[in-house]
Amino acid sequence: IKKIIMDCDPGHDDAIAIILAAVQPKLEILGITTVSGNAEIEKTTNNALKICDLVSLTDVVVSKGASKPLVRLRETAPGIHGDSGLDGPELPEPTRSWSEEHGSDTIIRLVKESKEPVTILPTGPLTNIALALSKAPEIKDNIEEIVLMGGGTFGNWTPTAEFNIWADPEAAKKVFDSDIPTVVMGLDITHQALATKEVIDQVNKIDNNIAKIVGELLVFFASTNKEMFDFDGAPVHDVLTVAYCVAPELFTTKDVNITVETKGEFTSGTTLIDLHGVTGRKVNAKFGLELDVEGFWKLMIEALKKY
Ligand code: BDR
Ligand code: CA
Repeated sequence: IKKIIMDCDPGHDDAIAIILAAVQPKLEILGITTVSGNAEIEKTTNNALKICDLVSLTDVVVSKGASKPLVRLRETAPGIHGDSGLDGPELPEPTRSWSEEHGSDTIIRLVKESKEPVTILPTGPLTNIALALSKAPEIKDNIEEIVLMGGGTFGNWTPTAEFNIWADPEAAKKVFDSDIPTVVMGLDITHQALATKEVIDQVNKIDNNIAKIVGELLVFFASTNKEMFDFDGAPVHDVLTVAYCVAPELFTTKDVNITVETKGEFTSGTTLIDLHGVTGRKVNAKFGLELDVEGFWKLMIEALKKY
């Protein structure tokens, strides 16, 4: 059983990632930490708590993390996720509050307490991970892998930058420079996982409340992705981090060096993915290239049927 910490900013795809993870016998969720990203921190944390109630993760600690990036001003994404960060379905208010502990401290504590190495799944800006690594660099020794969603060889928030990396490039740079084994689900692969109308129909055929909520999340997410990017179907970016932990055989990755532009006049937050080894810099990541799309959706549908 893989021990995981989900560091997220729910967010439709973050929420679906939690829903997928919660029902996997191969995964144990040690904790959920939240970050400002798709919406302000109180909202993303409240959304995480609502999703935990939905899937009965009521014993899993939920800690509120960074309310803003390390050095930049906070920017959110209401155009994609709505004002609440999770517009679409009607979800009851959470039955509990977040922990008193800061998200970055929860990461440090859980990694230190765990007898087995921990895998961290960041699906928002990397602020909490960078803070945890600054405060307690020794946690590196008990992190098996970081499997993150972010970056890509092209952008979605600027012509060259993806939202999570763009929102806190200094934090992202710290993570890529950390020497922790890192797997990167960037836009190149997440755009292969489109929740098309056919996928949504399949989800809606499943007769339980959680599948119904996922259907509603996907409909909202698809509509804003259509408006903003003219996509036919929403790329369910963050869900790939969980799928990779459960079924790595669905993914083709390449060992590369990745670094982050933190200064560029137009390119701040861009990931430089050295696919052809032209920089001579050492490999620091596995970069997702190709997804077994059918296998991925099968995993998702089977998971929803278990609820
Ligand atoms: C990423 O940005 C957010 O809007 C999504 O939740 C995902 O983590 C995609 O660029
Ligand atoms: Ca996210």
